[in-house]
Amino acid sequence: MLKKINHIAIAVNSIEEAAKFYQNILGLNLSGVEVVTAQKTRVGFLKIGESNIELVQPAEPDSPLVKFLETKGQGIHHICFEVDDVEAEVKVYLEKGATLIDLKPRPGAHNTKVAFVHPKSSSGVLIELCEFPK
Ligand code: CO
Repeated sequence: MLKKINHIAIAVNSIEEAAKFYQNILGLNLSGVEVVTAQKTRVGFLKIGESNIELVQPAEPDSPLVKFLETKGQGIHHICFEVDDVEAEVKVYLEKGATLIDLKPRPGAHNTKVAFVHPKSSSGVLIELCEFPK
């Protein structure tokens, strides 16, 4: 079951550079900056209500995000739905005929388990499912 929109992710060249707008103009606070090794990305979160803006930048030259930035430039990268059980969601989506990037959950930021739905199933929007530790 989908619980809420956990975050909207924005691909950026530099979290610190991009965060200036969100901090200085919008008045949000940057926190939880960490490297997500499994995805070769570095992320930082700006909390807004019960959701977040996630700034995401490549952590390594061969990060999939490098190609995204080269072809599309900075901008919205994915929407993340928080769920109770990622594995169960993935199973149901596959049964219903959706295309998933991850057939099994992988480690995400903040000890979450995540899986991505392919944008071709969702009108061009990359969708992340995340499950927080209980
Ligand atoms: Co995300």
